[in-house]
Amino acid sequence: MGSLAGVRIAGVGHYTPPGILTNADLERMFATNDEWIVSRTGIKERRIGAPGTVTSDFAFAAAQVALERAGITPADLDAVIVATVSGDYQFPATACILAHRLGIRGKTAFDIEIACSGFVYSLTVGSALVRSGMYQRVLVVGAEKLSSITDYADRSTAILFGDGAGAIVLEASDVDSYLASHLGTDGADPTRLFIEEGGSAHATTTEGYASGKFAIKMRGREIYKNAVEEMVGAAKSVLAGANMTVADVDIVVPHQANARIIDSVAKYLEVPSEKVFLNIAKYGNTSAASVGIALSEAWEAGRIAPGSHVLFLSFGGGLSWGAVLWKW
Ligand code: UT7
Repeated sequence: MGSLAGVRIAGVGHYTPPGILTNADLERMFATNDEWIVSRTGIKERRIGAPGTVTSDFAFAAAQVALERAGITPADLDAVIVATVSGDYQFPATACILAHRLGIRGKTAFDIEIACSGFVYSLTVGSALVRSGMYQRVLVVGAEKLSSITDYADRSTAILFGDGAGAIVLEASDVDSYLASHLGTDGADPTRLFIEEGGSAHATTTEGYASGKFAIKMRGREIYKNAVEEMVGAAKSVLAGANMTVADVDIVVPHQANARIIDSVAKYLEVPSEKVFLNIAKYGNTSAASVGIALSEAWEAGRIAPGSHVLFLSFGGGLSWGAVLWKW
């Protein structure tokens, strides 16, 4: 173990499967309409993995892009972290499967399961591993096949979720890009956003499966307010921690759960909408993958340049929330 070092993001990448599920497709599946979905959520379509594809397929594809852009090979990695709630299996960790697929053996690999906050939590944990001097290079991937845990008979959730993966390579650096992090949770009532069956509380049953208890359930209206409040609070906390103001932020890369939530957060923080990256219209809510996909797309679009101050925000199951402030 060395002394406290700096960390930087050396490469970013994302992958989304080619299958597209549009609002028009959903109109044919249950009573809903494009106007309702777009006005309530901002979502127009989502990507859906083909039958037989698994979360580690998306993670692998996104990781390959990030590794190539970082100019390193898998053998250079010291650790692999995957953030997911829809891993290939209940266990082993999808990170172990990803490490195997990348052709590395005997290295640290683990999952972080904190739902939609997974990428922000993993960015924080991965950065801490590098900044402590313990590791030189850590691959962080947020990856989901949410279509496998979505009940397409439940219109209140089926309109929301999609599949994909976003990846970054964290690397030790003389100049520290990590400025501040704030991570929070509130486990007071898990049933606000959860999967009822399949854990130790309720085993999977045939009847439960038939009634959608294998899938994500959410009391959306109830947690909407929490989402706005906690992301605003987390943002203020990291700005204060770094001794900065909102005016110093060049781009906000938020979890894409709902365009209205993101708009409200931006209004409370007084961030102009041009500084907020939105891609929810194309992908819907991809849980732990969403911040990574958004970051990769923002970078590809030239929205992030050396020196940019990036504010990552997340909120989701747990309830959980987080913010990371980063200097590119
Ligand atoms: O990523 C994890 C964190 N998640 C969040 O932060 C999500 C937070 N919550 C939300 O984004 C919103 O609550 C939703 C987008 C999920 C829902 O929007 P809402 O404005 O809160 O709608 P609602 O659930 O209160 O439903 C309003 C009405 C209901 O009808 P009644 O009871 O008013 O007659 C629903 O039955 O809309 C109905 N409804 C639909 N109508 C058409 C629910 N789903 C649909 C639908 N199409 N797909």
